[in-house]
Amino acid sequence: MLSPTPLSLFCALLLCLPLAVVFTITSPTTNITTTVDCLKNQVTKFLRKKPQAPLQSPPPPPPPQQPPPPADDESLLQVAARVNPTPTHPMKVAFMFLTTTPLPFAPLWELYFNQTNKQNLFNIYIHADPTHKYRPPFAGVFADRVIPSKPAQRQTPTLTSAARRLLAHALLDDPSNAMFVLLSPSCIPLHSFDFTYKTLTRSNKSFIEILENEAGAHDRWAARGEHAMLPEVRFEEFRIGSQFWALTRKHARLVVGDWSIWPKFNQSCLQLDTCYPEENYFPTLIHVRDPLGSVSATLTHVDWSRGSSGGHPRTYRASEVGPQLVRSLRSKRPRYGYDGINGSDSIRRDPFLFARKFSPSCIQALMGIAKDVIFKD
Ligand SMILES: *[C@@H]1O[C@H](CO)[C@@H](O)[C@H](O)[C@H]1NC(C)=O
Ligand SMILES: *[C@@H]1O[C@H](CO)[C@@H](O)[C@H](O)[C@H]1NC(C)=O
Ligand SMILES: *[C@@H]1O[C@H](CO)[C@@H](O)[C@H](O)[C@H]1NC(C)=O
Ligand SMILES: *[C@@H]1O[C@H](CO)[C@@H](O)[C@H](O)[C@H]1NC(C)=O
Ligand SMILES: *[C@@H]1O[C@H](CO)[C@@H](O)[C@H](O)[C@H]1NC(C)=O
Repeated sequence: MLSPTPLSLFCALLLCLPLAVVFTITSPTTNITTTVDCLKNQVTKFLRKKPQAPLQSPPPPPPPQQPPPPADDESLLQVAARVNPTPTHPMKVAFMFLTTTPLPFAPLWELYFNQTNKQNLFNIYIHADPTHKYRPPFAGVFADRVIPSKPAQRQTPTLTSAARRLLAHALLDDPSNAMFVLLSPSCIPLHSFDFTYKTLTRSNKSFIEILENEAGAHDRWAARGEHAMLPEVRFEEFRIGSQFWALTRKHARLVVGDWSIWPKFNQSCLQLDTCYPEENYFPTLIHVRDPLGSVSATLTHVDWSRGSSGGHPRTYRASEVGPQLVRSLRSKRPRYGYDGINGSDSIRRDPFLFARKFSPSCIQALMGIAKDVIFKD
């Protein structure tokens, strides 16, 4: 069996044939040495090997790769609007961070995600305005989670665009994403991951604050010009609510597929001091399209009781962080809006799951009470 059988030589020739073709096509100037070398190699192999190993069946083709999401927003949103609105099981929660800074509470969040055994029940997405620097870079559970991002500034529609971009990527990325939570870098969790997961996935409604007749509503509506929102968005339909919500997959899809009122909110404002599209677009859309599909409240606690400093709510300092603060925030109940209530929401007692704003200096104090207080429920 030391000399090549006609069969093995034939097989060797077969193996080399595609190569020869490739070389002929791609580089006509190359002479046929390569093919000859290949043939020689094959012959040597067949001489060394037992010849009864004929051509093996080719390995199974790799699973078809998902095409990457489109880079331009319009196509991205259109593609994302075609996903299945019903999540596959087991359901997952998409944590979507909208930031222009490194995440100051990354270690706390990492611990939050680490201390659950439900490792496959969440996904993380980050929108990071590329005009800012991120040092240290996103690492640990946040490594490689940044979606293609664009500049995102307050008092412009770009923050809202960023949130819609996050929703689109999260919808396309995983058919199990069932709840989509928007978070800021100054947000912290108030409960364990398991508690949060249960609260969110047991609800088939979004949690989004939708308030009517808020002070200053008319000025916000008219910020793009007296009649700029007409006829699509009448003042009576215009709503205000926290920028931070948790949307069902059905509503996430509704948002990315909205071409009816989005063009109105995507206009630049003439009046910057009343321009907060991210606090108006989402509540108005859900109010108009599916108020009964939402609980009209945000589960992200914020304290405006001391007024606003430059449009920002109370920001906790490190010296204020302790078990007492966490217990106090947990004991509070959300403010419910009027839409979609039908009488029943007035007796709801949904727990706050997150809170803001915390200054970056709080991280040590927060880590100190994480395991024994924040993640204990
Ligand atoms: C073709 O083969 C000869 C001899 O091996 C070599 O000298 C020559 O460079 C080769 N030509 C090309 C185009 O590769
Ligand atoms: C979380 O788990 C990862 C991998 O298991 C580990 O590298 C990391 O240090 C952990 N982080 C924390 C904050 O416990
Ligand atoms: C929003 O407006 C900007 C600026 O006019 C435009 O470039 C962008 O395409 C719009 N976004 C969408 C999704 O329509
Ligand atoms: C939520 O679930 C209840 C009961 O399972 C059902 O009656 C209701 O239609 C659902 N609501 C939404 C918004 O899917
Ligand atoms: C709310 O009330 C309307 C009208 O009475 C009814 O059609 C709807 O099913 C109710 N929705 C819920 C969630 O109770």
